[in-house]
Amino acid sequence: MTLIDTAEIYGDGRAEELIKHVMADQRDRVFLVSKVANNHVIGDGIALACEASLARLGTDHLDLYLLHWPAAGAAYSEVVAEFESLRAVGKIGAWGVSNFTVPQMEDLFRVPRGDRCATNQVRYSLADRQIENDVLTWCRQHGMPVMAYSPLGGAETSLLRDPVLTRIAAEHSRSVAWTIRDGNVIAIPESGSAAHVKENSAAVRLRHYRHCPRSPTGGAREQPHAEVRASWSQYRFAGVTGR
Ligand SMILES: NC(=O)c1ccc[n+]([C@@H]2O[C@H](COP(=O)([O-])OP(=O)(O)OC[C@H]3O[C@@H](n4cnc5c(N)ncnc54)[C@H](OP(=O)(O)O)[C@@H]3O)[C@@H](O)[C@H]2O)c1
Repeated sequence: MTLIDTAEIYGDGRAEELIKHVMADQRDRVFLVSKVANNHVIGDGIALACEASLARLGTDHLDLYLLHWPAAGAAYSEVVAEFESLRAVGKIGAWGVSNFTVPQMEDLFRVPRGDRCATNQVRYSLADRQIENDVLTWCRQHGMPVMAYSPLGGAETSLLRDPVLTRIAAEHSRSVAWTIRDGNVIAIPESGSAAHVKENSAAVRLRHYRHCPRSPTGGAREQPHAEVRASWSQYRFAGVTGR
């Protein structure tokens, strides 16, 4: 697991400052994602916000830079132009959006180079499958990977205490696997516990839950999750080349 997801608003910049220390001497091992707040999209706001994030993170580039929320009334042509300028000078490897609905994705794709959007980061878990009705299908049709946030349902969820899920998760050892089962979704679980992080990292080694065959002895059989790995490299590729 090498992706770190943050945002300028997390802890008012403190999260990015902490990540700087986490990444010390190993920046090249991290796929670094940050987000610009939607009240920073006017004029050169995105460029200024990016500079501030880079300074807090102690790096000269982000691998992926997202617009955190749709910006009401913003001209997406200007937002895209700003992102593309940052990409052209190597400050970001790719750009994307977060919390966009299908109509908002369509608005984005209508502006020049809007289809270079690398991903849409949206809430997705067993507790909230709303995107299966629209965004997930749309993104799949457009060859765009989805980033699932709150893949465990978020800190306040009852999902993690559900007895049936707890039993299934224990049997298969991992719960994040469900969100990434189709290979077009990347999950970003949060945890302050090293044991939980290790547990969650094992999700990428599981094949689809529903297809996971049982071994002759009755235990879950684990296999390398080739689909997820392939999706991840495609994701990086799409971000670098654009569509
Ligand atoms: N784009 C957006 O608008 C947006 C919005 C919200 C979140 N996000 C991103 O998504 C990330 C994750 O979302 P989230 O924090 O809302 O929800 P989440 O990852 O679904 O859930 C986090 C909770 O799950 C617990 N947990 C993690 N692994 C566990 C395990 N193996 N077993 C049991 N409990 C476990 C954590 O507690 P412990 O600390 O005890 O492990 C924490 O309470 C955030 O860090 C953020 O980067 C983005």
